[in-house]
Amino acid sequence: AAVVEHTFDVANFAVTRLCQSTVVTLVNNSFPGPTIQVREGDTLVVHVNNKSPYNISIHWHGVFQLNSGWADGPGYITQCPILPGNSYAYRFNVTGQEGTLWWHAHVSVLRATVYGALLIKPKLGRTYPFPRPHGEVPIILGEWWKRNPVDVETEALRTGGAFPAADAYTINGRPGDMYNCSSNETFKVTVERGRTYLLRIINAALNNQLFFKLAGHRFTVVAVDASYTKPYKTDVLVIAPGQTTDVLITANQAPGNYYMAANTYSTLGPVNDTATTALLHYATAPATAAPQMPLLPNSTDTPTAHRFSTSLRGLTTSPFWSPPPAEVDEKMFVTVGVGAEACGADEDCSTSPLGTRFRLAASMNNVSFQFPTARSMLEAFHFNVNGIYTEDFPDRPPVEFNYTDGAISANFTALWLPVRATKVKKLKYNSTVEVVLQNTAIITTENHPIHFHGFNFHVVAQGFGNFDEGRDRRSFNLVDPQERNTIGVPDGGWAVIRFRAINPGVWFVHCHLEVHLPWGLAMAFAIENGPTPSTSLPPPPSDLPRC
Ligand code: C2O
Repeated sequence: AAVVEHTFDVANFAVTRLCQSTVVTLVNNSFPGPTIQVREGDTLVVHVNNKSPYNISIHWHGVFQLNSGWADGPGYITQCPILPGNSYAYRFNVTGQEGTLWWHAHVSVLRATVYGALLIKPKLGRTYPFPRPHGEVPIILGEWWKRNPVDVETEALRTGGAFPAADAYTINGRPGDMYNCSSNETFKVTVERGRTYLLRIINAALNNQLFFKLAGHRFTVVAVDASYTKPYKTDVLVIAPGQTTDVLITANQAPGNYYMAANTYSTLGPVNDTATTALLHYATAPATAAPQMPLLPNSTDTPTAHRFSTSLRGLTTSPFWSPPPAEVDEKMFVTVGVGAEACGADEDCSTSPLGTRFRLAASMNNVSFQFPTARSMLEAFHFNVNGIYTEDFPDRPPVEFNYTDGAISANFTALWLPVRATKVKKLKYNSTVEVVLQNTAIITTENHPIHFHGFNFHVVAQGFGNFDEGRDRRSFNLVDPQERNTIGVPDGGWAVIRFRAINPGVWFVHCHLEVHLPWGLAMAFAIENGPTPSTSLPPPPSDLPRC
């Protein structure tokens, strides 16, 4: 195994998109940021130099970080941010997983522009569990604002408003042909007729799930979240922020130009956005041939999203496969949803959709996660520092009712004002855990992509309405469920996940719709050391940033 080393200089740069120049934060003046490629088993070292005006940290989204929790990256969870002018070296092994992951900033909304692909290839001598593709292309979906996203967020939080919609979706940083002023920079993939290619698709958008299609071609899904799946053929994907999907495509159509395109999946009412596009160009076709455009699903098409999400199965013949735990030590029922909170003294709430006395807040089991500021939670856990968090994250919500019945929305102020707190659920090393994630209709239902740091989990069941212990437990798939790090909890529904707590440390769990994170849609697991040094978290590196 090799040691792969990168240097990330994080700084502000002007970027021109949609005919307008905007100052944003980038890594190595590249947008998207540099692609990192390793082989399974390699050690990755990334020297991050913060030359930007902001506090920064970088998260390696989906990397297990087994016994290397100090390198995970979420600000105030596993480290204090890297202050302007400071540096930190992230050092970790990439073992036990192959496929497409990504890295992104994990402080405020900086990940809007600070992101890139992290590709884990099989180690030498090992092959893919599918025919070797002729070429491989990362396809990173994103969002672009004509204003610096940090300023956009600061204003939205101060005035209690929703985070404004992006000015464009992007593919590999470029809006594509459907927007004004961007067609000259559309991303293009050139293919040879008859060959098969691997598209490594990443949703790096801040706030939107996306449908993705390619005109005239079908996808064969072979992996999600760097976990192999049974080959699944489809002409449409849905992909939530944080998720990745690896698909094979075969250039078997008439030589020509074909658009790949992405547009919104959201149930918050119809969205009439413009699709972002990139071009699939057959090498022998004239560059000027008019491209075919795929017909994307309607933005509220939950049946299509659900069909895709529930059709994936884990590849049980993969060397990385392990079955989900058949028995569980810890059973949790956790609500995920957006509610309301009294407007704070430091906020004006003038743009709040709930009036000036309340603003939106989000919670899990009615606890609205509050980031600590004095120390990271992992330092507090490792060094037994009191006062940073408490260990009483509840296993069930404080009141039980009909979670997805819209009628409760009228009563949200009486029923469901969350408590702001920093709470963890403590787990014994090697315990097995089941979490029922239940969407709520406090204000409205929505599909929340819940991301787990430090673990993949198996998605053993998903459905709509309220999870029903007697009925729904019978539908669990414990044979070949998909393994993921981010699960879109169905709109007005639930998902059940299982994992084994073999990674000591503090692991953040949160909605990957960025707008819900400062509102508190998060919690954390604190996992105790195992019995041996090799099952324990080593001490922090000496350059770990301090608050
Ligand atoms: Cu990709 Cu905590 O995030």
